[in-house]
Amino acid sequence: MAMTQPLVMALTKGRILKETLPLLAAAGIEPLEDVHSSRKLIFETNRPDLRLVILRGSDVPTYVRHGAADVGVVGKDMLLEFGSEGLYEPLDLGISRCRLMTAGFPDAPRSRPRLRVASKFVNLARRHYANKGIQAELIKLYGAMELAPLMNLADEIVDIVDTGNTLRANGMVPLEHIADVSSRLVVNKAAMRTRHSSIDALVKALRGAVEQGV
Ligand code: PRP
Ligand code: MG
Repeated sequence: MAMTQPLVMALTKGRILKETLPLLAAAGIEPLEDVHSSRKLIFETNRPDLRLVILRGSDVPTYVRHGAADVGVVGKDMLLEFGSEGLYEPLDLGISRCRLMTAGFPDAPRSRPRLRVASKFVNLARRHYANKGIQAELIKLYGAMELAPLMNLADEIVDIVDTGNTLRANGMVPLEHIADVSSRLVVNKAAMRTRHSSIDALVKALRGAVEQGV
């Protein structure tokens, strides 16, 4: 009889990973190696039926949607930007909380016919301004969005705000609240059917860890 393939869980590297590992530990899942010091991308765990892969957050929805990973941990910002097609989102992990906001200089008039908006979240930013009836030209950036208004590349930015320190340090203020963000557990829809009992057990264990307030 063929051995069942291990369940593959895609994790978002960086700050989300640091906050995910204690939740996994509380759910009885421990990587066999230190994921922070290793350059490996695939990690076995103490559970032979579960393997971890560590990705950029923007790639997690893609891996899970295509079934290359069965489940994933990813920020709501990435789901809003790249879409949740093919995914279930059964659990809010309550970690890496922040807000998606528009931001700019205080009291700057929105006088241009088309507002120039810099963001790494161009899809959700375009939707936000369209819903407000504001014509916006989206400029895609990959980081340091706060620089764009300072250098007159853009009038406003759309970015995540946590403490607000980065905006303040650059003379800007948050303007409009777009969404509250936290990390979510996502599940490939087909895997939810074909591997229901293992995924259900994983969701329950992680829900228990979240409810314990790990
Ligand atoms: C993130 C985000 C904001 C800042 C928010 O940037 O894009 O700039 O942190 O946190 P704060 O409100 O506590 O200041 P990050 O440092 O991840 O760099 P990047 O945008 O260049 O990727
Ligand atoms: Mg930033």
